[in-house]
Amino acid sequence: MPILSSTEENIQRVAQWLREGQLAVLPTETVYGLAANIEREDALREIFRMKARPQENPLIVHAANVNQIRSRVAVWNDRAEKLATRFWPGPISLVLPKLPQVSPIVTATGPTVAVRIPEHPVALAVLESEDLLVAMPSANPFMSVSPTRAALVHDSILRQVAAVLDGGECQVGIESTVVDLTSDVPQILRPGMIDHEMIESALQENVRNSTGTALKKSPGQYRRHYAPKTQAILVERVQQGVPGIVLSTPETVFHRRLALDPGEYARRIYAVLSELDQLGADRIEIEMPPQTADWAAIWDRLEKATAPLA
Ligand code: TXA
Ligand code: MG
Repeated sequence: MPILSSTEENIQRVAQWLREGQLAVLPTETVYGLAANIEREDALREIFRMKARPQENPLIVHAANVNQIRSRVAVWNDRAEKLATRFWPGPISLVLPKLPQVSPIVTATGPTVAVRIPEHPVALAVLESEDLLVAMPSANPFMSVSPTRAALVHDSILRQVAAVLDGGECQVGIESTVVDLTSDVPQILRPGMIDHEMIESALQENVRNSTGTALKKSPGQYRRHYAPKTQAILVERVQQGVPGIVLSTPETVFHRRLALDPGEYARRIYAVLSELDQLGADRIEIEMPPQTADWAAIWDRLEKATAPLA
């Protein structure tokens, strides 16, 4: 189905389709998402089928306001309030105990649910227009690179959804930070551009960083993920004539240069990986970015994009 421009009329139409149980791709500030109404289990099942996503990987619920979210979680604690006040709408998802009415398909049968209010005006307008809550994973086939522009939504998904709403280029560019608020100490399960330091500063307490145990708590964390079809590797220096991403050398026919700034880098990384993937080369080389805390979320995605297939 078509890519629709985000006119008022198209926003209303897509919201209506979602309400009726159809699937649509919506822009968010992080990446484009494959949305389904959380009240429709048939639609939720379609998400897993379309993405070839393992059933054990839970989905993030997206809403336009905190009241909608509070009506789906069993506990809304002081930490949730602080993070929501500081960062929502924005690129952070909070894991909280769920209420029974949240479908087990959303939570992969688990007792908790991840929730977020996205910042993109088009996503918010859709959710507000029908008072909807949607489950919304990134709109890519399982394991592959998340789309950050409407034109990057994979054909296999494009063909099966009611519509893709075009909201331009995603301004954050990588997926939301996922924070677990169900244990004694808050823990980052998936790093994102709202980083460890920002979360500690908002909560005024220690927060556990993502580690090996985060992999177990967040079933959707796999070693290889967010990966192009071409084998990608991290290198000190990208070779001439090999498709690659550079930071410190000039752009060439084969080399895309990204800024030595985590925010700018995150915004473009998936689009550039998708573009280099189209060249059909044997491999893509990626110049290693700095190893500092402000690059942590980018390192997480690059490690997953370059993990071996086997
Ligand atoms: O930025 C984003 O979060 C995007 C946009 C579309 O909003 N969505 C997204 O969804 O990245 P997805 O499905 O690709 O990734 C969801 C992540 C997975 O790592 C999953 O394991 C984790 O969130 N997650 C979801 N529910 C969880 C839960 N109840 N407990 C722990 N982790 C959870
Ligand atoms: Mg994803």
